[in-house]
Parts: sequence; C-alpha cells; structure tokens
Amino acid sequence: MGLLVPDDFLLGCATSAYQVEGGIENDWSAWADSGQIKTPCGSAVEHWLRWKEDFDLLGDLGAGAYRFSVEWARVEPEPGVFDEAALAQYGQMAKDLRSRGIEPCVSLLHFTHPPWFHRLCPWHDLNGDAPAQFARFVERVVRALDGAVEMFTVLNEPGVWLSAAYVGAAIPPGFASFTKLASAGAQLLRAHAAAARVIRAHVPTAKIGVAHNVLRFQPDRAGHPADQIAARYVAQAFNHALPRAFTTGKWQLGLLPGVRKSFDLPEVIGSLDFLGVNYYSRVFVRPRLRPQPAVDLVYEDREGFGVTDLGWEVYPQGMQDTLREMSKYGLPMYVTENGIDDRSDTRRSAYLYDHLAEVLRARRDGIDVRGYFHWSLLDNYEWLEGFEPQFGLYRVDRETLQRTPTRAADLFREICSSRRLPERRPAQTRRPGTGRTPIA
Ligand code: FCB
Repeated sequence: MGLLVPDDFLLGCATSAYQVEGGIENDWSAWADSGQIKTPCGSAVEHWLRWKEDFDLLGDLGAGAYRFSVEWARVEPEPGVFDEAALAQYGQMAKDLRSRGIEPCVSLLHFTHPPWFHRLCPWHDLNGDAPAQFARFVERVVRALDGAVEMFTVLNEPGVWLSAAYVGAAIPPGFASFTKLASAGAQLLRAHAAAARVIRAHVPTAKIGVAHNVLRFQPDRAGHPADQIAARYVAQAFNHALPRAFTTGKWQLGLLPGVRKSFDLPEVIGSLDFLGVNYYSRVFVRPRLRPQPAVDLVYEDREGFGVTDLGWEVYPQGMQDTLREMSKYGLPMYVTENGIDDRSDTRRSAYLYDHLAEVLRARRDGIDVRGYFHWSLLDNYEWLEGFEPQFGLYRVDRETLQRTPTRAADLFREICSSRRLPERRPAQTRRPGTGRTPIA
C-alpha cells in the first residue's frame, strides 16, 4: 500500500503576487524599466484578473490550501496612501478560498517592495523605520482580510532575498556589502516580530510562520577538509542563522572575528509558530582564493535523478534530511515550497512523488511536518529567469494565457482525493546532468 497522507496534513499549492498577478509597479518593475533586469514581468499570467478561474483549478485539484502573497506596492503605492479596492480584493480572495474549503496562507513580503521603499527606509538602515512601515502595511492587510486568514508566512525566503540584494547586487536595492546584508537581516527580523504582534492582536488564533529556503550543502570533493569546512560554513549561514535567530533572539553572521556581525533581537523570540521550509535542491561547495576568497557553489547530477531545466540537481533524499535537520528548532513545520521547472512535462510527476514521499516518511517517523505546498499552481514569472522556466502544475500559454493541466496536476488530484501516494512511482524521463551549473 502506498504511503498515507495523514488526515490533518495540508496539501496545497503556492504562488506569489508579483510572479502571477500582472500589472504591478514596484521596485522590481522599476529596475526592469531601467534595463537592469532582462525580462519584464508585465501582465505576468493575469492572476489578478483571473483569480476566480484559478481558484476553480485549486478546487478541481482538491487542494486543501493555497499559499499566495499580498503585493505591498499594490496596497500602498505611495507612502501612507492605501488602495482600498486592492485591499478589498485580497479580502475577497481570502473569503472565496474559505468558502471553497481551501485554507489561505498569506505571505506579506515575497521579494518585492513599493517603488518608494528603498529610497525612504531601506532595510539596511538600522536607524530607519522599515519595520514600522512594514507593520503599518500589515495592519491594513490584516484588517482587510477580516479574519478569513489564520496562516501567514510573513517573510518569504529572507536569506535568498538578502543574498540576491546584498551579495550579488542582482536585484533591488542592489548592493554588494556584507555589513548592509547583516543589518538588513536584523531589520527584517524586527519587521517580522512587529508584524506578528499586529497579526496576533487581530487574529488571536493566527499561525505565524516564515518561508525559509534550505539547500543541502555538501563538500564538492568528498572527504576534502577545506570543502568540508566551507560546506559547513555556508550551511550555517544560509540554513541555520535564520531559524537560530528566531529561537535564540541572536542574529549572527560571519565566523571570523572582525567579520562577525551579531545582533540581539529579543523581540523575535516567540514570534514564530511554525517554520516553513522551501526545499528544491542540493549544492556542492568548495573554497576558492581568487579573485577574492569566496566559495564556489555548483549543482551537479550525482545520484542519477538528473537536473532540472535550470540545472538544479534533483535530490529527493535532501527533503527528508532537511526536515530532520530543521526539526531541531522545535517548531512545527510545513513544506511551503517544492517543485521543478520542467518544460517537457515528463519529470514533474516523479519529482512530486519522490519529494512528497520523503515528507510523508519524515512525518511517519515522528517529524512534526504538517503540510506540503507545491510550487507552483501555475507557470509564472521566474524572477531573473523570466518566463522560460515552467514550474506550474498548470501550463500557461504565453500568447493566450490559457491554463492546461500537466500530468503532475492529475497526480496531485489523485493524491488529494485518495489521501495516499499511488503504489507505483510515475515513470520519469531523466534529464541527464549537463555538467556543473554554478549557482546564480
Ligand atoms: C523560490 C521563490 C519562489 C520561486 C521558486 C522557484 O526561491 O520563493 O518565488 O521563484 O523559488
């Protein structure tokens, strides 16, 4: 008999506002307008207009939950000026999901900001009022949601956002500064704590989480001491600094004295009810000395599961390892994202099956994991990669924006209705590793 999905285990899908809604003017679109981002997002997949039709798809899948985000730039296009119609639509969306028996899970910061934000109160300004600004926005949203939402992933992947915004200068505000990164992280944590207070004041039954991206980091050369140290160091910084901050109130980055940044944030303790885990892949690590001391991070097919279209190694075992490792923080967990970019639609079913199987095995063995959200409901705008990657359970035609189920949508539907994994694993067409893909 296939693995059972426990009765109280949530099965859902995830999206984020900017990636699907369309017609948003924010910091990202401003960067695209100034030529710093290759593909503009434009009308995305028009989820803002087609949300009812898309909720029908969730209903058709039998999904028990939907994780989506509220776009701050839409709600507060000018500082202190709130768009009541936009707020009302988010409220309507949440109510509509409830009426369909689908639990809404709302993210309040999924990478993008209002166009004015970085000018007025950038996260890295330790004396700035970014946390208060964010809390004010959250208060307006929570009031508009009017009790229809209890589950929140306040911040999406702070670690990923900080790395892209402050290491590679790849996304707005576009700096390469470890000091700014550490300060911005501290302010984000304060903002989370402030948002949690606001949410709890309005929704006493709220479950407050963070969606935390966790990668498996392993030494590139097995047994090589320098690679082992580098892999451990990167894992500490990327995987552990954030949950540790939530549980101890200490946000600490950097190992060496002189480079080490440390912040005491007592207000953060107790502000999290669950840890959301976004798991996709494994990365191999080795140190390098030139042009400056750093680490090389690469994806490579080492288990025979192949790589995704973006070159990410498919490594299902990493899902269970991650959940076991993260369980030490003592919080209930949800897998808030997991999925594959697969244009051929020949590999998504096996990916979904293998990763969900690992989640269910962890749960069976007593790990407190309470749900799984597949990334994504729909093909969407994959940030710096534009519209090429296709993560959707539903394919979206770029011309007509018509939605069509993939094979994995059929599998997901079957799992939602039977509440078990089918006996037989779907056949997968392996996309052989095409060598080593450096992480962007
Ligand atoms: C995650 C992001 C999400 C999506 C997936 C593929 O890092 O949270 O928005 O881009 O990756």
